[in-house]
Amino acid sequence: MKRSVIDTVDLTVEELDGIIQTACDIIDNPKKYSEKCKGKKLATLFFEPSTRTRLSFEAAMLELGGSVIGFSEASSSSAAKGESVADTAKVISCYADIIAMRHPKEGAPYVAAKNASIPLINAGDGSHCHPTQTLADLLTIYREKGRLNDLSVGFCGDLKYGRTVHSLINALSRYSGIKIVLISPDELKLPKYVREGVIEKNGMEYVETRDLEGSLASLDILYMTRIQRERFFDADEYERLKDSYVLTAEKMQLAKEDTCVLHPLPRVNEISVKVDDDKRACYFKQVLNGKYMRMALILTLLEDAENGVLPTHDESHVVTNKIRCVNPRCITSVEQELDHKFEPTDKEGVYKCIYCESEHKI
Ligand code: NCD
Repeated sequence: MKRSVIDTVDLTVEELDGIIQTACDIIDNPKKYSEKCKGKKLATLFFEPSTRTRLSFEAAMLELGGSVIGFSEASSSSAAKGESVADTAKVISCYADIIAMRHPKEGAPYVAAKNASIPLINAGDGSHCHPTQTLADLLTIYREKGRLNDLSVGFCGDLKYGRTVHSLINALSRYSGIKIVLISPDELKLPKYVREGVIEKNGMEYVETRDLEGSLASLDILYMTRIQRERFFDADEYERLKDSYVLTAEKMQLAKEDTCVLHPLPRVNEISVKVDDDKRACYFKQVLNGKYMRMALILTLLEDAENGVLPTHDESHVVTNKIRCVNPRCITSVEQELDHKFEPTDKEGVYKCIYCESEHKI
């Protein structure tokens, strides 16, 4: 396994800051970077739909002077014939220098990274995490606010299945003075493993509420999200919850003058298009920032691979096959012969799956 990025925790805060600085330098001096990846290939393996993430990875590699191979849906890959994620990763390692992978099963990119001999970047796995969207979010916050500390950040919508929310909270937990406001219907609250395992563990200040309007006046950042239809097992529940929050121009009057509105996109109806003209709407800038951050990340990982930097995953306390992960979205539910592995949490007798992070008692 080469140094890979499965979630934002794989990058130290110094590295996050370094990637932001590289991205800012790319923005100022694009020519300096236009041949940095000459002769290198990025493979984009997308087992799930994507517009921004895949194309911005591809644009990023092309702007670095490299080239791109890959597929954009599982049905056009050998996954349709039943090939495992592990085998796909071994095969692609023979063709490319770095992989960006999106998969509906949680932990699939970790399994792939463990089997690949080239670096791998998680481009989104199920409801679990999405570190490169976080990089786009961080650069946008940094460029709009000039800092990543001392911010009140509201997350609104589908906090249960929204993987971008989970990864951004993880990243923000490394900065100081962050206050988190979690705005969602009861059914779509932030998963326990993020609330307890990230927010509470790091002593972050937070509140949970259903009230968007009442929260707006206190926020420096408002992070809107789509209700993730494809993650619901119950279609009626989606229908009931899909219009939970709609940010309108009227509601924006309740926000601060310099609140920055973010959204990972795609938008369905949770932000009225009329808000787009508001100078506080930053979600299209966020898209462009995503490309620069992916350029900076590709450069960082290719450099690390060349310098023999090793991955930081520590599996020394892992318990293997004593219990089975029961999360139907976990990669262990489909990948044949994959050991079920768990690492201890701070809670007595509670272990979390190393692939999807769901908690189980032993
Ligand atoms: C997000 C994702 O795929 O998780 N989109 C993206 O990558 N920008 C958000 C979403 O699909 O709602």
